[in-house]
Amino acid sequence: EKGGYDYFMLKEIAEQPKAVADTLLGRIDPSGSLTLDEVRISPSELREIDKVVIVACGTAFHAGLIAKYAIEHWTRIPCEVELASEFRYRDPILDGHSLVIAISQSGETMDTLMALRHAREQGSKVLAICNTNGSTIPRESDAVLYTHAGPEVAVASTKAFLTQLVACYLVALYLGQVRGTKWGDEIQAVIKDLSRISEEVERVLETMEPVRALARTLASKNTVLFLGRHVGYPVALEGALKLKELAYMHAEGFAAGELKHGPIALIEEDVPVVVVVPSPRGRSVLHDKIVSNIQEIRARGARTIVIAEEGDEAVVPYADHLIRIPATPTLLQPLVATVPLQVFACELATARGNEVDQPRNLAKSVTVE
Ligand code: M6R
Repeated sequence: EKGGYDYFMLKEIAEQPKAVADTLLGRIDPSGSLTLDEVRISPSELREIDKVVIVACGTAFHAGLIAKYAIEHWTRIPCEVELASEFRYRDPILDGHSLVIAISQSGETMDTLMALRHAREQGSKVLAICNTNGSTIPRESDAVLYTHAGPEVAVASTKAFLTQLVACYLVALYLGQVRGTKWGDEIQAVIKDLSRISEEVERVLETMEPVRALARTLASKNTVLFLGRHVGYPVALEGALKLKELAYMHAEGFAAGELKHGPIALIEEDVPVVVVVPSPRGRSVLHDKIVSNIQEIRARGARTIVIAEEGDEAVVPYADHLIRIPATPTLLQPLVATVPLQVFACELATARGNEVDQPRNLAKSVTVE
């Protein structure tokens, strides 16, 4: 069943290129535009939307945080992302012009289900992004966009996350396409990049041995910190969540710009800090800022583990360990940048003798509030 792998998690990490490709299959037509007929919310209704609200938990919430950058950039519709467990308790402002997107691998997460019920009571349309056919969340939603990751068995979510990202990009691009934005050309280019991304994920997987070796050297550490900016920030949160649930280590993700507002006090001699570096092309200001963050933490003794695009030479002098990922457009980078963090957490769990597929205290689907 594990297809020759020691753990389902390893198998599921390896299945990511296929999961990504399958989730795109049939959704991009030969002319390069998107066909999301499954989204049974009509283009005219989609044109009326004035706000998007994403609700989800855990890893799916991190996918939602990344989706916000894509949706707001390509559609100019304001987008909020909220933990499903917090959502209905704060009396959120919703109406018939709000589109609520509920993201869930299992489709059975009680907090997410209660959030979407609340949204529908307020008259909002709910679109589910879900990996499990016929589960409760899509059944109770107005429409569903299925992720085609196949069954995910390991408690720690990996391939479902990558496919949730793909589904979120598709929704963002589709909304942009339906409503027409000034980013028309960029949208076309990104659709092309998306159709190649599964090969890039494959390339990342082929270069993971040094990441495993590095993880093994850190097995006795107590803390690992993760830093990112822009879409790299949710990637940092996801890297930290994986490490908590699998390695039972203290792990925290920060927005790199927040360092000087507190977290930098945590930096001491030899503490491992993983930094997700945005592409030096495109929004280069982000890149320059993070390079100075790396300098700052290294000057304070941190052991820097830098995830940076191939060809990014600016980070080399400050990286104790350098993990290369292929060049992608900024917004798509999480699809390649998350993979080393999954491998890192899985290997650390193994090195610490933990049960990889069934971490202590956790269930695959959380059907209580
Ligand atoms: O099935 P869901 O996507 O709704 O589950 C949400 C979270 O419980 C889930 O992502 C959890 O955080 C994972 N164990 C993370 O690896």
